[in-house]
Amino acid sequence: MVKVAIFGVGTVGESVIKILQENREIIKARSGKEIVPAIGVVKNLNKKRAVNNIELTDSYEEALNRNDIDIVVELMGGVEEPLKIVRNALKLGKPVVTANKALLAYHRYELQDIAGDLPFEYEGSVAGGIPIINALRDGLSANHIKSIKGILNGTSNYILTKMIRENAEFKTALAEAQALGYAEADPTFDIGGFDAGHKLLILSSIAYGIDVKPEDILIEGIEGISAHDIAFAKEFNFAIKLLGIAKKVGDEVEIRVHPALIRDSEMIAKIDGVMNGISVVGDRVGETLYYGAGAGGDATASAVVANLIDIVRHNKKSPMLGFKHPLEVGKLKLKERGDIESKYYLRIHVHDRAGVLAEISRVFGDLNISIEALLQKNIDGNSANILIATHQTKERNILKAISKIEALQPVLSRPYMMRIEK
Ligand code: HSE
Repeated sequence: MVKVAIFGVGTVGESVIKILQENREIIKARSGKEIVPAIGVVKNLNKKRAVNNIELTDSYEEALNRNDIDIVVELMGGVEEPLKIVRNALKLGKPVVTANKALLAYHRYELQDIAGDLPFEYEGSVAGGIPIINALRDGLSANHIKSIKGILNGTSNYILTKMIRENAEFKTALAEAQALGYAEADPTFDIGGFDAGHKLLILSSIAYGIDVKPEDILIEGIEGISAHDIAFAKEFNFAIKLLGIAKKVGDEVEIRVHPALIRDSEMIAKIDGVMNGISVVGDRVGETLYYGAGAGGDATASAVVANLIDIVRHNKKSPMLGFKHPLEVGKLKLKERGDIESKYYLRIHVHDRAGVLAEISRVFGDLNISIEALLQKNIDGNSANILIATHQTKERNILKAISKIEALQPVLSRPYMMRIEK
């Protein structure tokens, strides 16, 4: 029998306990041993929890130091407290499973060093129930990874889908995602792109061995998207998705999270609701695509329990990020933001009067940015939004154009920009 301590009995923790109890037979058949949730560690013992037949404690030390605990599962959320627990568990020689993407976004290399050959697994940290860590670290390990492009946040995808398909208000869609248990405790992590950024950094480490922190990469959220952006997307057959993109270009890697317009016909454009989807392109395998529930208790717990089964079977996965010799570490640099190349969409709020469009097009012309599509949406008798899609240009150029356009007299506020992804 293998005994597990579960730190954090929230949405995912409850599901892990239930899966271990309710799928006991199949888990025993697959792992070779019975895996028992022996103790749950919670902050507030008075809070009602939908779990039975498990001891609960509010003492981290007690659970960690119990000799009969074989594996530690960390599902608490936050960074500092879980870091202490995971460090201590590994130092005590106990294998660890976590679904904590923020913890790994900041401390993955340090924890990999501490873990050494001890199993330290984290499948549930990226894209909930989709076995993307396994796929990238093991299934695709023969490949140079050309790119990773994914919808990595269920809450944002749920909100965008509701806004596009049902013309829902941003706030209503967010409240629904929260009620369904998809959102983070602080939903800014979801809608601001940070949750997707954390997940993308974990995938980027496995693909490229690159060691960068969330603050180092470009992260933009979906808060600024308006009804006119959605109208433009529909008019020109685009979907709007919050994308996480990691791409190798020469000796550099682009790592960025932002909302993007993508052609309706692309497979990833059809990934709706809370679902996540990730495309990984390897130099030998070509494109591979992964799809599934990226949030929610059971989906994430499915990945956590799979890690437990793997550990009990002695399927060692060390080193946790997949590089025994850091071949590419230190060689690959993060691409500078200004050097990123893309097509761009701009929404420009203007006084609706003669000559405005000419002034705006002059800015584009001077910077050698070519316009691909244009639409005007009136707001009232006096003002309108001019919606523009450009051909490919460098981010440096579009940022210059935005500042110049913002300074034009008839322009009423800083233009809103989204990238158009191929
Ligand atoms: N809040 C996350 C999401 C949950 O919406 O995708 C999974 O990490």
